[in-house]
Amino acid sequence: MPSLIIDTDPGVDDAFALALAVRSPQARVLAVTTVFGNTDLAQTTRNAQRLLALLGREDIPVAAGAARPLVYPSPVEADTVHGDDGLSGRALTLPEPTAPLAEEDAVSLMARLVRESPEPVTLVPIGPLTNIAALFAAHPGVKANVDRVVVMGGGLTGGNVTAAAEFNLWCDPEAAYRVLVEEDVPTVLVPIDLTYQCSVDGAWLDEVRASGPVGAVLEPLTETYRAHYGRVLGYDGTVMHDAVAVAEAVHPGTLTTTPMPITVDTAPGPRRGGTLADRRLIAVDGPGFRTVEVATGTDVAAFRDLLKARLG
Ligand code: BDR
Ligand code: CA
Repeated sequence: MPSLIIDTDPGVDDAFALALAVRSPQARVLAVTTVFGNTDLAQTTRNAQRLLALLGREDIPVAAGAARPLVYPSPVEADTVHGDDGLSGRALTLPEPTAPLAEEDAVSLMARLVRESPEPVTLVPIGPLTNIAALFAAHPGVKANVDRVVVMGGGLTGGNVTAAAEFNLWCDPEAAYRVLVEEDVPTVLVPIDLTYQCSVDGAWLDEVRASGPVGAVLEPLTETYRAHYGRVLGYDGTVMHDAVAVAEAVHPGTLTTTPMPITVDTAPGPRRGGTLADRRLIAVDGPGFRTVEVATGTDVAAFRDLLKARLG
């Protein structure tokens, strides 16, 4: 059974991804760690705690991590996508947490749990990669007990926050470069090219709302996000990016992957935060590239059914 640490910035799709993780009997969630991203750190942390309260899983520790990127001040502004509280202005519809925040910070908690785990741990970053970069820099020894890192991020054919960059990598390109290019841990990258294929429509969301008490609270959190993606997709629907990565972490092999040398652009300019994948059949790692497993396909109907079933 995979042991997971979810590193997250809830975030509407993060909320659905967390629900998928903690309601899956096939995986054990050791901790939820938080990072700035879809909104500021105080809010993403509070949102994570509230979501675990809703899900009846306050036994899972929550630890706060980075409030800003490694090097440059954050350019982040995601209010128009996730709402000013990260959950379409509806965070207060979630229950107040009763469990305290962990006393350890995110990096210390991850390091301790990975070291103590009898089984190798899967790290699942579904926000900016700042905490994971800091973990490997401060505690390189933990990599020996990391099974793999399943990253939601990147875009092979373009971005979603700029023409070149996907949001999670754009929030902290230096952290993304360290984790994806400079580290040597097995890594699966789940880019927006695949997550967009896994979009859900309005009928799916309506079924989630009607499916039970969790769905009845989670679905209204999508209001701002659904309106944004309605414009992006051109129909009533939305994209559960982070849940696609969590599905792979919970059920290894759910996604088809292809090894590709990749890099992340950290230079100033219009390509900053962008992903470059070498898709030539003859590609080998050159300087500034590392081969990771890039998720390129899945059974989309099965993914939608799995997520809906776990929410019901
Ligand atoms: C990623 O950006 C965030 O807004 C989402 O939560 C997801 O992690 C998609 O690009
Ligand atoms: Ca996220």
